[in-house]
Amino acid sequence: MANTILVGAQWGDEGKGKIIDYLTDKVDMVVRSQGGANAGHTVIIGKNQYILHLIPSGILRPRKKCVIGNGVVIDPPQLVKEMTGLERKGVKLKGRFFISDCAHLVLPYHKELDAARDASKGKKAIGTTKRGIGPAYEDKAARNGLRMGDLVNPAVFEAKLKDRVRAKNKELKALGQKPLSFAKIHAEYRKAAKKLAPYVTNTVVLLHQALQKKASMLFEGAQGTFLDIDHGTYPFVTSSNATSGGACTGSGVAPSRIDKVLGVMKAYTTRVGGGPLPSASDDISDMLHNMGREFGATTGRPRRCGWFDAVAVRHAVMVNGIDEMAVTNLDGLDGLAKIKVCVAYKIDGKRTNYVPSDIGTFAMCEPVYRTFPGWQTSTEKITAYQDLPLNARKYLKALAELIGARMSIVSVGPARDQTMVV
Ligand code: GDP
Ligand code: IMO
Ligand code: MG
Repeated sequence: MANTILVGAQWGDEGKGKIIDYLTDKVDMVVRSQGGANAGHTVIIGKNQYILHLIPSGILRPRKKCVIGNGVVIDPPQLVKEMTGLERKGVKLKGRFFISDCAHLVLPYHKELDAARDASKGKKAIGTTKRGIGPAYEDKAARNGLRMGDLVNPAVFEAKLKDRVRAKNKELKALGQKPLSFAKIHAEYRKAAKKLAPYVTNTVVLLHQALQKKASMLFEGAQGTFLDIDHGTYPFVTSSNATSGGACTGSGVAPSRIDKVLGVMKAYTTRVGGGPLPSASDDISDMLHNMGREFGATTGRPRRCGWFDAVAVRHAVMVNGIDEMAVTNLDGLDGLAKIKVCVAYKIDGKRTNYVPSDIGTFAMCEPVYRTFPGWQTSTEKITAYQDLPLNARKYLKALAELIGARMSIVSVGPARDQTMVV
């Protein structure tokens, strides 16, 4: 398979984990390049469910190599927990899992600050995952961060951590929080470092050597286009570039080495956390929640649900350069007699086909809907595109036309075999 960047085309949780696992069969390496343990990527294999937060979803295919690139922010104890959990289930990591020495660390003060700051925003809270993502990227940009390379060097780590804990405790105190103990953090992180050290390496060189040997790579995006720090619904976003460009800066693999961008989208819309969602619908939210679906893989929070927003996804196709799209959760719409799709927005009565860049204007957008007839039959067992009900195929065809990208994969359930290539 060609070197492919896979991105979420909506607000995260599009089913990226499932599609990555499906495609990993056809590539040599899977690379994470942004985000951190805020991600929750679900992969279901037989009776086992895996939720990956930091480790690439490709890890569940034996012999495939997986890399956490320089752009990811890593919580070392969380990573160790994830590694041990996989090892307990028989997944082998030695020789096939690599961590960038330039990836920044998430430290306990990042998590404390994340929670305290978001709580202090009251009704304007972003509703972060409290995984310390924003404060860790803040330190990276301010050139105050600690990296994996520091963690595995005991003397450097001790000196830098001492300095950082002193500074961060002042900030925590100002927010009314208790100071943190350097000794406790140091002991916990040094313990994690011992487990992680054999996996830490210069992943830029590793990836380039693999490219020279014609290895094929799949870049596993985390979050989604509208959570991107630049292209999302700022400030209700995460702190990294979740769009396709982030895959290059976050891995050190240049754009000229990329062959294809694949978007992943749900057949409807979901969002977890604060911020506007023009096509939100109580009807579809209630229906999906009553089916036991659409609860966050990282935080367990119910996701807000809505109709498919073609204006938003068309924007995602544009900013990511999406060549092909995988659509997931088509089966979520199986029971509906009528299905709405947001085809444009109205702002103060004026129609627009674009996503406004200003959040205030975006919050004023009223959806303009087109209604499609449903298929009202289960699609879960269908394995070939031509066997989908006619109305389902018509719905998919209309979505492809509205967003301007080819539909190449359709998913009708969480399992590997509930996937069809178009
Ligand atoms: P990610 O963050 O993009 O990897 O997505 P999540 O794992 O957070 O959320 C997607 C949810 O949808 C998970 O529970 C998946 O198991 C599930 N899923 C993915 N594709 C399908 C599908 O086609 N049908 C159904 N029913 N569930 C799906
Ligand atoms: P995956 O990779 C859905 C949301 C949070 C919050 C905002 C900022 O599973 O698709 P953060 O903790 O990053 O500072 O939170 O972004 N968010 C996600 N929503 N899927 C994700 O990842 C998300 N990662 C962050 O809910 O609104
Ligand atoms: Mg998720």
